[in-house]
Amino acid sequence: MSDKKYNSFFANNVPQNSVLTEPLPRPKYDFAVAFPDPDHFPIGDLHESLGEALKDQGRDLVFYPHPQGLLEFRELVCKKIKDNRGIDVGPQNVIITAGSGQSINLITQLFINPGDTIVSEQFTYTGALRVFERFGAKMAGVEMDEEGMIPEFLENKLIELKNSGVTPKFIYTIPTFQNPVGTDMSFDRKKEILAISQKYQIPLFEDDCYADLRFEGENSPAIASLNGQDNVVYSGSFSKILAPGLRLGWIVAPDTFLPYLMAVNPGTPPSQFTILSALYFLKKNMEEHVANLCNMFRGKRDCMLGAIGESMGSEVEIIAPKGGLYLWLKFPDDIDLEPILPIAREKGVIFGLGNTFSTGKKANNYIRLCYGYHNLEDTVSGIELLANVFREQGLLKS
Ligand SMILES: Cc1ncc(COP(=O)(O)O)c(C=O)c1O
Repeated sequence: MSDKKYNSFFANNVPQNSVLTEPLPRPKYDFAVAFPDPDHFPIGDLHESLGEALKDQGRDLVFYPHPQGLLEFRELVCKKIKDNRGIDVGPQNVIITAGSGQSINLITQLFINPGDTIVSEQFTYTGALRVFERFGAKMAGVEMDEEGMIPEFLENKLIELKNSGVTPKFIYTIPTFQNPVGTDMSFDRKKEILAISQKYQIPLFEDDCYADLRFEGENSPAIASLNGQDNVVYSGSFSKILAPGLRLGWIVAPDTFLPYLMAVNPGTPPSQFTILSALYFLKKNMEEHVANLCNMFRGKRDCMLGAIGESMGSEVEIIAPKGGLYLWLKFPDDIDLEPILPIAREKGVIFGLGNTFSTGKKANNYIRLCYGYHNLEDTVSGIELLANVFREQGLLKS
């Protein structure tokens, strides 16, 4: 009996050769995935908050929740993004999602038909690329500098597409502590990017999931805060300040998109049980908790930068990010790190490979390292191990 017996019944966008794969076991040193620090996950406080929340609102769990998510939680999101990101919206324009991953899915579902084009930074979040790919989108990458997407290149890309009869469906940007490069967009740059999106009347998707993790530099308001815009859809996440396991994030959508997003949203927000525990925790502790996280991640960033400096010297290019969770390392152009990844895994350490973040060009001379998860001691040992692998493979001379 063929296991493809019912494939002809599936929707067109289901990949025909799908197979179930178990994730590979995590090696001792995992610098590939952006896990936050388990020692700073506030288990005790969340437990207490859940208890309080259930006492106050537990009986309401018998009802189906509001399709956009609990009003009080949306109000908390509104206050948070008004205070930190300058975005002035009411809870009616907020949708609570199961993390930015779901937000990316919904937004892609809203805009993308197979063959459509999405413009983004030339290197971008792998998870978003996979979703875009699944919906059949083509990527058009825009060159970056230390502030992220370069406006001039964005405009040239839009003109180039227009000249070949293509109107991209949206511009996807991660302005703050970009994944994977770690760039931080200034407010002036944000205004320029918005102005270009409006000049060409293209929706702009601002993924701001690292905005809370700033250790240095000036915090500038989000693109979605700029007055008069109705083409920006914004997403944020609690994965980076609480934990990915909670699955909580949000979308802010202008009226131009909101009803349509709700039409593609299955109407089932994330578990109200989880929302309640996060709500009660965040109401009391958000500011202090985020400040502690930033201090801790700053220390981890410095530790990893120091360890790389010690063990890899100046043979790799690296920029110290002002926040977020990633270091982006560049090896000489002729190096291909793909064959090194299984060797490193065998020895107990993994990294994110450049190509998995690339919208087009081969980028296997880049790697992304996350400094969020391991403690300082393990960070140093893991980086030393990785440097030894590179050395043994002839990638580092000294
Ligand atoms: C830029 C970006 N967007 C979205 C996500 C997904 O995060 P979440 O856990 O909120 O789904 C990530 C995760 O690393 C990310 O880096």
